[in-house]
Amino acid sequence: MSLNTKKMSKNSKLVLAVETSCDDTCCAIVRDGKEVLSSVIASQIDLHKQFGGVVPEEASRMHIEKLSLVIDKALEKADVSLDDIDAVGVTYAPGLVGALLVGLNEAKAIAFALKKPLVATHHIKSHIFANFIENDIDFPFVCLVASGGHTHLFEVNDYDDIKLKGQTLDDAIGEAYDKVARALGLGYPGGPIIDKMAKKGDKTAIDFPRSWLKKDEYNFSFSGIKSAVLNYLNQAKMKGEEIVVEDVCASFQAAVIEVLVKKTTNLAKARGIKRIAIGGGVSANSYLREEMQKACDEQGIDFYYPSMQYCTDNAAMVGVTAYYELLAGNVADYSVNAIGTLELSN
Ligand code: KG4
Ligand code: ZN
Repeated sequence: MSLNTKKMSKNSKLVLAVETSCDDTCCAIVRDGKEVLSSVIASQIDLHKQFGGVVPEEASRMHIEKLSLVIDKALEKADVSLDDIDAVGVTYAPGLVGALLVGLNEAKAIAFALKKPLVATHHIKSHIFANFIENDIDFPFVCLVASGGHTHLFEVNDYDDIKLKGQTLDDAIGEAYDKVARALGLGYPGGPIIDKMAKKGDKTAIDFPRSWLKKDEYNFSFSGIKSAVLNYLNQAKMKGEEIVVEDVCASFQAAVIEVLVKKTTNLAKARGIKRIAIGGGVSANSYLREEMQKACDEQGIDFYYPSMQYCTDNAAMVGVTAYYELLAGNVADYSVNAIGTLELSN
């Protein structure tokens, strides 16, 4: 089947996007950095949950097994063929190197075969740009990227002018969620489970510490709260006290979200910016969304967030980023390599 070309303007760009940086095998077809024709995700959660976290070697193997099928499905769902594709976008950094390489090599092969541009995209930038799918956001805006591997606070002045203002000095916020969930025996990934359990708990039950670091600082630290929760659980067990899991979840969440919301809104206030966006797996958290919305309403700030499917890893956000990189002339050559750790810089 072929794309209905009548609907497309002459300069319209159709991007086939691939994302394999961690444990989701993803492909999407995105038109003009906005219109998601399809977004297919093969989650590896069932594979990794038996180990309580992502096993990199297993993740790479599973990407190899699934990626071609996922790409075929994305083309089929979008009702387009490879001949309709104008560019191939792919995440090359940061992430698990073995996992990234699977997507990168497949994307190189497709781009080479089609004789179309290859666009290598940064994973964190894609989490920011996920916001553009469903929202029209004016620049500048402050963006909090909170995921399993990252907790970054950015000032976004333009598509290619993004300033890092703060980041975690130790654990990522999603990592803290996952570790606390593991300590409570709740399963993997912990974020969505804690989110749900916390709704039934009392957030004032346990006064976990808030990690503010220095005044006016936009960096974060989440290793302390993880230890505080573990200490609380150990002491309660030793004293034979009842542990109300829902209360632990709600109190943990209250402690970390208060800091995320306050630092994000403080940055917006300090810079006189009236727009805040969030992205990454933890931006799916209902309490974070509620609290950020409340704080933004109080301060006259517009608040944006992606729908659930575009918060956690997906290739639609890669298709958006690749489109803007393409417009800026940022085309990769075939020597581009996967990079495990790479700051987002312009
Ligand atoms: O963005 P993502 O899919 O992968 C990375 O780039 O890391 O984020 C995954 C993380 C996991 O730590 C997961 O527990 C967390 O996002 N997460 C959540 C929620 N949904 C996913 N954390 C809190 N609340 C949620 N509802
Ligand atoms: Zn991610």
